[in-house]
Amino acid sequence: MGRAISFITLFFFLHVAAYGVLGDSPYRFFTWNITYGDIWPMGVKQQGILINGQFPGPQIEAVTNDNVIVNVFNSLPEPFLISWSLLLSLASFFSLCHALLCSALLCSALNGIQQRKSSWQDGVYGTNCPIPPGRNFTYVMQFKDQIGSYFYFPSLAFHKAAGGFGGIRVLSRPLIPVPFPPPAGDFTLLIGDWFKANHSTLKYVLDSGRDLPFPDGVLINGRGWNGNTFTVQQGRTYRFRISNVGLTESLNIRIQGHAMKLVEVEGSHTLQNTYSSLDLHLGQSCSVLVTADQPAMDYYIVVSTRFTSKVLSTTAILRYSNSGGTTAGPPPGGPTIQIDWSLNQARSIRWNLTASGPRPNPQGSYHYGLVNTTRTIRLANSAPFINGKQRYAVNSVSFIPADTPLKVADFYKIPGVFSLGSISDNPTFGGGYLQTSVMAANFRDYVEIVFENYENTMQSWHIDGYSFWIVGMDGGQWSAASRKSYNLRDAVARCTVQVYPKSWSAIYMPLDNVGMWNVRSENWARQYLGQQFYLRVYSPVNSWRDENPIPRNALLCGRASGRRTRPL
Ligand SMILES: *[C@@H]1O[C@H](CO)[C@@H](O)[C@H](O)[C@H]1NC(C)=O
Repeated sequence: MGRAISFITLFFFLHVAAYGVLGDSPYRFFTWNITYGDIWPMGVKQQGILINGQFPGPQIEAVTNDNVIVNVFNSLPEPFLISWSLLLSLASFFSLCHALLCSALLCSALNGIQQRKSSWQDGVYGTNCPIPPGRNFTYVMQFKDQIGSYFYFPSLAFHKAAGGFGGIRVLSRPLIPVPFPPPAGDFTLLIGDWFKANHSTLKYVLDSGRDLPFPDGVLINGRGWNGNTFTVQQGRTYRFRISNVGLTESLNIRIQGHAMKLVEVEGSHTLQNTYSSLDLHLGQSCSVLVTADQPAMDYYIVVSTRFTSKVLSTTAILRYSNSGGTTAGPPPGGPTIQIDWSLNQARSIRWNLTASGPRPNPQGSYHYGLVNTTRTIRLANSAPFINGKQRYAVNSVSFIPADTPLKVADFYKIPGVFSLGSISDNPTFGGGYLQTSVMAANFRDYVEIVFENYENTMQSWHIDGYSFWIVGMDGGQWSAASRKSYNLRDAVARCTVQVYPKSWSAIYMPLDNVGMWNVRSENWARQYLGQQFYLRVYSPVNSWRDENPIPRNALLCGRASGRRTRPL
């Protein structure tokens, strides 16, 4: 252990010597051992993925701008990677607004989401070589200009179905106010659908060209019915951070007899609306405040599936410390198949213009809606059969991995791994085909992306490395006239957006982050079977100010095996 620490210390000393930019922000070191172990979340034994023996994995607690160093030992007999639902960076201070190309308005828009992440730390197939069995990789990240609730998850194979995920909470720096008083407690609820089958069995089903069965249940923090108790003191207010870490289903959460005041979604402070129940789609995170203002007893916290004919649900207990007894009555019911209800709720989630975000200036000083977009990208999901097998696609392309991570191939200029322009900017409505799809984009473009869902199922889309404004969402087919309905004033910025059946969702996104970024369905069967691609945000200026260089400890594989990273 002592040797490991001194190695890490040396590594950082060299790192700081090389960059000189890590500043005064504190370091937080984590050492994680990834193993298989037996878990019984639904009463039957399964093969789980444990982190330091825990399922779900340990929580990461940090403060905005902390340097977070996670040394991941892969003790599984197969390759493994972890990815993060927040934006990570290694350095890069406020370079953008000094750039001549940057208009004053765009600058103020970009300032709102200044987080700069290095795709070298993203931990997805297209950016990192997998950690081989028996080896380790140290993620070196700064939670730069981040605040709020996020999670991490295993990104390869179908590992996410076995655990390996955990919560991330990033607190505000001292002196930067958050728009609510400090809560009396801060709870994390990782909610998600769950299958009793082992992840390898589910992967086999998908590999053989079939779709997943319906899940067997819903878990809260890895446990089923009444498996968690959250104890509160009467009269006090608590923060609940909720993330949907599941594989295929949108979920609804509600607390018997208690209102939930929404204060944050994925790092943006929201207008503080009060809800009796909340929808959380795949991959989304939020924070609610709950005041223990009811008679002292136990109350149900209920999570149930949305838009499913058979409704799966589970409960946890909210217990008053002076509780006189058990829960009363049945767990409260929630919405089931209603789409309009969910759409209206989504539209009611607004950016709090007067609250500060990770920095002291108010979120509303970023005029995202006044900047002209420079490019429109329309993305349509589909579910084609290709070579007799179920696949999922976007603009007709079903993504297949290459033999070398795309970011690595790009860095070493290894030809033949991927080609730019291998996915169209618009739906083709043609037959599906397999391709290692990479879309080219220019650093500092300001793009409008429209997710068009012509299918009758719920979609959820995530873009790595970015936060974006959800400017519009409606039923039917998107057209240029749909822009009239956009919210260009107080739309919320987040990193995961749902698209309702036969509907569209539109976002504005400044391409302020150079790298190779995964755009994917958060439905884990869909992303596994190809509903994803990579957005290569490129700057011709090969500057460390725009992008962190390849880390010295980067693993190399495929056609990059045996290359060197950087000289010391
Ligand atoms: C990880 O855990 C396994 C099982 O407990 C153990 O055998 C192994 O030595 C651990 N590895 C590290 C790097 O701690």
